Amino acid sequence: MTTTMNAIITTAYGATNVLKYKVAEKPVHGVNEILIKIHATSVTNAHTAMRTGYPLIGRLFMGLLKPKNRISGTDFAGEIVAVGSNVKKFSVGEKVFGSTDIEGGTYAEYVKVSQNGVILTIPENLTYSQATAIIDGATTAFPFLVDHAQIKKGNKILINGASGSIGTAAVQLAKYFGAEVTGVCSTKNVDLVKAMGADYVIDYTKNDFTKAGKKYDIVFDTVGKSCFKDSKKALRDNGIYMSPVLGLRMTFDMISTLRSKGKKAIFAATGLLKEEEKIKNFRVLRDLLSKGKLVSVIDRTYQLPQVAEAHRYVEKGHKKGNVVIKVTEEEND
Ligand SMILES: NC(=O)c1ccc[n+]([C@@H]2O[C@H](COP(=O)([O-])OP(=O)(O)OC[C@H]3O[C@@H](n4cnc5c(N)ncnc54)[C@H](OP(=O)(O)O)[C@@H]3O)[C@@H](O)[C@H]2O)c1
Repeated sequence: MTTTMNAIITTAYGATNVLKYKVAEKPVHGVNEILIKIHATSVTNAHTAMRTGYPLIGRLFMGLLKPKNRISGTDFAGEIVAVGSNVKKFSVGEKVFGSTDIEGGTYAEYVKVSQNGVILTIPENLTYSQATAIIDGATTAFPFLVDHAQIKKGNKILINGASGSIGTAAVQLAKYFGAEVTGVCSTKNVDLVKAMGADYVIDYTKNDFTKAGKKYDIVFDTVGKSCFKDSKKALRDNGIYMSPVLGLRMTFDMISTLRSKGKKAIFAATGLLKEEEKIKNFRVLRDLLSKGKLVSVIDRTYQLPQVAEAHRYVEKGHKKGNVVIKVTEEEND
């Protein structure tokens, strides 16, 4: 059996030229681990941040001067090719999808994952590409909506950046939880956001939601393009403003509203959730996917040697949903 594989190797922080397509050592799985032949992986905004090493705070987890993990990528969909002697939860041949988070390793032909990690079998109605594509947006949107906003039937929620990875998942999940959803996007994405289930769509190139006079229980700015100060006008008395994007302004707003009984600003990092929480959430999401209540949105697909090109596209900030890297050429991909 061959001991090498093709992968994207990164040995320094920097521009997309640090992503090099090379031959690497194939991972060797331990007794509690699973070896997966990856069929599809994704390129997300988190990966472009991991590549550049900015914001600097991320280097506390990723390596101070250079990336700790030579192979980046966090999401995978593939087939189990070997299991460790203690693995009881999975078996060879099963199709699985999941996330390795800051451990990375998915820009490659193979990855090893703990049997207790964020990994589940792929619902039969999904291809490998669809399975990997949904992970980033759905696993990020879910804890924001459920844990932080405690979203419930009848809530009015506005989702800014509704056409992106987190946005397309957030619109579908908020609808599933029974909220009245307003999506904010540009003209070319109005149909997509409606197709995700939004009740109302605001085209940000024509109207500013903070000045439209409508009030929401939750404003979820998935792309961090608005601010709490302006969005307060669109919030009900004890409404919540949330964003997965942390800047100085958001940090200040979050600290200053921490004890507020009125409007609050909330940032959270999904990657910092406890492993048990991540798996619990992932199970719920898998169930929704299997029932067709949540679907993947794929903008572009690249091949493994083209990861740098995919990064350049993602960095532009205009993708619709998600960007997939096909690692193999199989019918089900
Ligand atoms: N905290 C966490 O745990 C966490 C986890 C994952 C990601 N993130 C962060 O979350 C952010 C969003 O990620 P993402 O992958 O969902 O974004 P994305 O997919 O790259 O978002 C792109 C979408 O946003 C739209 N957009 C651009 N400017 C806009 C504006 N001014 N108003 C409304 N929509 C606009 C674009 O459409 P148009 O170009 O047509 O306008 C495009 O469809 C990133 O900064 C990422 O790093 C945080």
